[in-house]
Amino acid sequence: MATRQRLIAGNWKMYKTRAEAVAFAKELTSVAGTRKAGVNWPQAVICAPFTALYGLAEAFAASGVSVGAQTMHQAPEGAYTGDVAVSMLRDLDVTFVILGHSERRLYCAETDAAVAEKSVVALKAAGLTPIVCVGETLADREEGRTQSVIAGQLDPVFTALGQSGIAAASLSRLVIAYEPIWAIGTGRSSSAADAQDVIGAIRTLTNKHFGREIAQAVRILYGGSVKPENIALYLGESDIDGALVGGASLQVSSFVELLEQSKGD
Ligand code: 13P
Repeated sequence: MATRQRLIAGNWKMYKTRAEAVAFAKELTSVAGTRKAGVNWPQAVICAPFTALYGLAEAFAASGVSVGAQTMHQAPEGAYTGDVAVSMLRDLDVTFVILGHSERRLYCAETDAAVAEKSVVALKAAGLTPIVCVGETLADREEGRTQSVIAGQLDPVFTALGQSGIAAASLSRLVIAYEPIWAIGTGRSSSAADAQDVIGAIRTLTNKHFGREIAQAVRILYGGSVKPENIALYLGESDIDGALVGGASLQVSSFVELLEQSKGD
C-alpha cells in the first residue's frame, strides 16, 4: 500500500490583503507551533491571491506551511497582460499552484487544453506542485454524466503529461482535486461515498495512463464545502488524500481544526 502524505490546501480565492494574510500566517504559525509537537500533521498549503504571496511566503518561511498561487500562465514570459509565469512564482518561494479551478474555467475561459499545457509546465519546474481541479455541474450529475465529464477534463492533461517526457518521480508530484461545482461555496457537500466513487475512478484512470506506481503516489483531494465537521468523513475513504478548502480556510481557527482532524496516527 502506498503511503501518501495527506494534504490540506486552503484556497483563499479573492480574499485577504497582504496585511491580513501576514496576520493569518503569524497566528497560524504560533497556534500550530504549540499544538504540533510530536503529532503527524498533514502537509498544509495556503493558495493566496498574487498580491499576498510575497508577504505570506516570508511570514510562513520557518513554519512548514507552504504557499501556493491560484493560477499561472504556461509561457515562460511574454506579452500576456495580467498573467504570471512559473519563474515568477518560484522567485517568491511559491511551491504549489492551483490549475483549472472551476471559477477560472467559468470566468476566465481556462480551457482543458490550457490546463493540460500548464500542468506540463508546472511539473517541469523544479519544486512546483500543480493542483489540477476537475468537477461536474449539477446538470451533469443529475443527468448521470459525472464520470464522463471528469474523464473528459483529465484526458487532455494525462495525454499531455504522457507525451511530455517528464520523469516518473516528477509525475508522482501531481495533485488532482475533485471539486463538484454544485458543492462549491453552497454548503451542499458531496457524500463521502460519492466523492470516493469519483476519486477512485480518477485513480483508475491515472493507473491506465501511467501505471500502478504513479497512480498510487498521486494525491487526490476532495473539495466543495469541506469544514472541520465533515472532513473526517472524506479522509475515511481509501482514495481521498486530503481536501481543497475555500471558506473554511479563511479563519485560523477553522484551518487549524481541519489540520487537527487530518492528523495521521
Ligand atoms: P468552499 O470550500 O468554500 O466550498 O470552496 C471550495 C473551493 O472552491 C476550493 O477550491
